Amino acid sequence: MKVLELFGGIGACSAALKRLGFNLDIECVEIDRFAVQSFNAVHGTNFVPTDIRDWDKDIEVDLIMHGSPCQDFSVAGLNKGGDEGSGTRSSLMYETLRIVEKLRPKYVIWENVKNLLSAKHRHNFDAYQARMVELGYNDHYQVLNARDYGVPQNRERVFTISIRSDLPDTFVFPEKQPLTVRLSDILEQNVDKKYYLSEKALDCFLSDGTGNYPRRERFFSNIFRKNQNIGNSITTNAGSRPTDNFVVASRGRDPENSSRRTAGGTFKQRLEPRLDGVTNTLTTVQKDNLIAELRDCRIRKLTPRECWRLMGFSDEDFDKASKVCSNTQLYRQAGNSIVVNVLEAIFKNLLF
Ligand SMILES: C[S@@+](CC[C@H](N)C(=O)[O-])C[C@H]1O[C@@H](n2cnc3c(N)ncnc32)[C@H](O)[C@@H]1O
Repeated sequence: MKVLELFGGIGACSAALKRLGFNLDIECVEIDRFAVQSFNAVHGTNFVPTDIRDWDKDIEVDLIMHGSPCQDFSVAGLNKGGDEGSGTRSSLMYETLRIVEKLRPKYVIWENVKNLLSAKHRHNFDAYQARMVELGYNDHYQVLNARDYGVPQNRERVFTISIRSDLPDTFVFPEKQPLTVRLSDILEQNVDKKYYLSEKALDCFLSDGTGNYPRRERFFSNIFRKNQNIGNSITTNAGSRPTDNFVVASRGRDPENSSRRTAGGTFKQRLEPRLDGVTNTLTTVQKDNLIAELRDCRIRKLTPRECWRLMGFSDEDFDKASKVCSNTQLYRQAGNSIVVNVLEAIFKNLLF
């Protein structure tokens, strides 16, 4: 199968297809040199960084995957939008349409943030779909959450599947699957001290912040969620914001020798009855006690390997990428990628 990964990142699409047993001939268009280094290491390819605006090959392709830049559609981003000709990174999805028109692959898969369906950005989503219909494709779209496809991460993304209209189209989105892997199952056993939050970082997360941003409560809820089986969405700088995932080990335990370092861990179990209604019922005094206790324990962010696992990549893939990229890049690449298991579930319904 000839696959063209536009905005290829680390190649979640190729990873999913390979896992399903496809023999792939891959073409990748990706501008970031570190992402390309990881892509090449993981997939055994030899691409060079390329700006999609300069890419104009005339090749035969079965499937185009594009997880086009989402910053300008994202709630977490600047919300600048992706109008054609606006010059924003998200407007680069119009480059995909140019390439689809030229190559006319059998299938086109587009992944992006759910906020693309919001009132502010919906016109770009509609414009994309209308253009795909003009180009002779049938579209299906749905918001899928990674937690429903075997990965303990709350990550909702909109997936658009376009099938060339001369092909049979019986596509339905995959059924949700029961989650059998917990966040704690993906955690590493021996974690370097550098992943633990410094006093300064803890101070920052515990401070009340200003205006409408309830920093402290958000941070609490990301350590001590009642259902700690599922983590929050992996971001491009995991552990830098109170809304990222954090793991707790109680004081007195050497974090490198602790046998019970689960998400929330022993400390969570000790505090859980008091934390059941953290946003409603905790009194100021209780909150202060909690802060005191939090200061008394070790809290760490996820490691890059854990982030890659939460994106559905194998340890083997991670090992290859970690030989050629720094942790900063590995976090970024995981946060930018697509959960492999979700694509795998889609491809099972689309290609078999
Ligand atoms: C959301 S990520 C896609 C990740 C990818 N689908 C994966 O499986 O990892 C968007 C990617 O688009 C790349 N990108 C941004 N501008 C680009 C451009 N002008 N040309 C090619 N790639 C670009 C970014 O470097 C980033 O890796």
